[in-house]
Amino acid sequence: MKILFIGGTGIISRACTALAAERGFDLTLLTRGKRDIPRNVRVIKEDVNSPALPARLADEKFDAVVDWIAFTPEDIERDVNLFRGRTRQFVFISSASVYQKPPTHYLITESTPLANPHWDYSRNKIACEERLMKAYREEGFPITIVRPSLTYGETLVPLVMNSWAEMSYTAVGRMLRGEKLVVPGDGSSLWVITHNTDFAKGFVGLLGHEQSIGHAFHITSDEVLTWDQLYQIVGAAVGVEPKLVHIPSDFIVACLPEMEGSLLGDKSVSVVFDNTKIKRFVPGYGATTSFTEGIRRSLAWFNADPSRKLIDQKANATWDNLIAVYEKGLANAVSSFR
Ligand SMILES: NC(=O)c1ccc[n+]([C@@H]2O[C@H](COP(=O)([O-])OP(=O)(O)OC[C@H]3O[C@@H](n4cnc5c(N)ncnc54)[C@H](OP(=O)(O)O)[C@@H]3O)[C@@H](O)[C@H]2O)c1
Repeated sequence: MKILFIGGTGIISRACTALAAERGFDLTLLTRGKRDIPRNVRVIKEDVNSPALPARLADEKFDAVVDWIAFTPEDIERDVNLFRGRTRQFVFISSASVYQKPPTHYLITESTPLANPHWDYSRNKIACEERLMKAYREEGFPITIVRPSLTYGETLVPLVMNSWAEMSYTAVGRMLRGEKLVVPGDGSSLWVITHNTDFAKGFVGLLGHEQSIGHAFHITSDEVLTWDQLYQIVGAAVGVEPKLVHIPSDFIVACLPEMEGSLLGDKSVSVVFDNTKIKRFVPGYGATTSFTEGIRRSLAWFNADPSRKLIDQKANATWDNLIAVYEKGLANAVSSFR
């Protein structure tokens, strides 16, 4: 099968690239070439928005095209125009944050309503999905929608109040120095974190899967943990008991309005995913990497080269301030009852 990934060297997609190449797919990555590219794949080095791209793709046809980096209906409009008549399947990477917030039912299936008043990122992904469904209905554009939930690989320590991407060692640094870490709510809300190698097993199974045209899927782990447990697992992996401070999400968002989407529109809300659909379409799919195992692999990657342990000083200062104002307010409140 001839496959094109727009992206393919990112946090989630690099594991899918590795598995698709291992399975012998004829894989091309379209990236700007800023990150390491595996040797066994073909590369088109171009910005996806480059005016030169349509000419570069003029003679190409694919069995599946995956856009890993579409975020707005304008991105989708570009893709539909680029790939109309040129691919047998177009896979859009949406997000599980599109599902109804707050949820009216704890168990998320693919038919959970799509509505997120707290996060414009999610509303844009919903608009992308709607534009694609219109293209499917009206002109048979062969879409498949995939909605990842929080997914990580060896280069990342995924926690609710942590820096993302290259500075995600920041929370580990705080644990090791004995500094407090903020956990929203009372730490008992449920969350699901999926390793990219597990996601890849479900995802690659959808490529070229004719029955998946017109369908949407999430692909997650079945391991459900509380945020306190997730922090404790990271702490145990580095040999410390993390000092957790529970702060209501509403308080955090009042102080840091930029956290609204990530908290009220996503990680403060309990999620439990029903993965029946992906298991039905991709027989044998099942996540096998526990968070305990995955986080050990991430820490081994950081330990292999200490220069990877970048610390987000700005985030640290913000969290220190948040903890200080919260504890001061709490102490005042307590004293008013004495
Ligand atoms: N990780 C999660 O927890 C999560 C959860 C829900 C949804 N998602 C969705 O998953 C997708 C992210 O996938 P990912 O983890 O693979 O992405 P990523 O880590 O953001 O990597 C982006 C990829 O796209 C390439 N790229 C970026 N800008 C480009 C441009 N202008 N032109 C061409 N290539 C470009 C990058 O390579 P170069 O930099 O070399 O160009 C890289 O290969 C997003 O759609 C996101 O909304 C992620």
